[in-house]
Amino acid sequence: MIVWLQTIAEVLIPFFKAAHIAALFVWCGGILAMPLMLARHDASNSRNDYLRIRRATHLTYTIVVTPAAVVAVVAGTWLIFFREALVPWLYAKLFFVALLVFAHAWIGHILVAVAENKGRDGPPAPYLPMLVVLLPMIAILLLVLGKPDLSWIEFPTWLTEPRQGQLPFAVPKR
Ligand code: HEM
Repeated sequence: MIVWLQTIAEVLIPFFKAAHIAALFVWCGGILAMPLMLARHDASNSRNDYLRIRRATHLTYTIVVTPAAVVAVVAGTWLIFFREALVPWLYAKLFFVALLVFAHAWIGHILVAVAENKGRDGPPAPYLPMLVVLLPMIAILLLVLGKPDLSWIEFPTWLTEPRQGQLPFAVPKR
């Protein structure tokens, strides 16, 4: 990396890592809490209670948990380049991150189904979505904190080496 770019990256790493981890707390805590909040959607609730619970769950998902997921992913993506972490444990981590994103979307889907169809689509027992969320979370934490040497896995070279590709347009030179 160019020296001045490397200096900027080193200054920015703690800020991006702090943003990554702070957003993760909200994201991971939030998607673990969502199944519990969903379980409170009981068709026998009064209309007002149902509406209140529905609004709280919906707002938590849309204005807290999902934006936190976006911040975590964006900050993490910058960290890949700042830390030059194009290594096997990262690819393994990204596989489990994809599963976590899938679980996040699934919980969003349950939320819509439960909120829109009172009494028809009851939420699943909370332990099932919590398990689906917890498993990739634990795998990610083991990978990122242990940074195991996975070099014995044969990754295709397009994943491990720069492709020396050029941008499809001219970049002005100074
Ligand atoms: C697209 C999503 C993500 C990307 C691209 C990403 C990428 C990264 C990168 C490159 C680092 C820096 C590693 C280092 O400094 O050696 C990092 C740190 C970290 N990530 Fe992520 N991450 C993502 C999602 C997650 C998720 C979902 C979790 C937890 C459930 C997580 C937990 C952590 C932790 C705990 C650290 C600090 C590790 C350390 O400093 O040693 N990340 N992440």
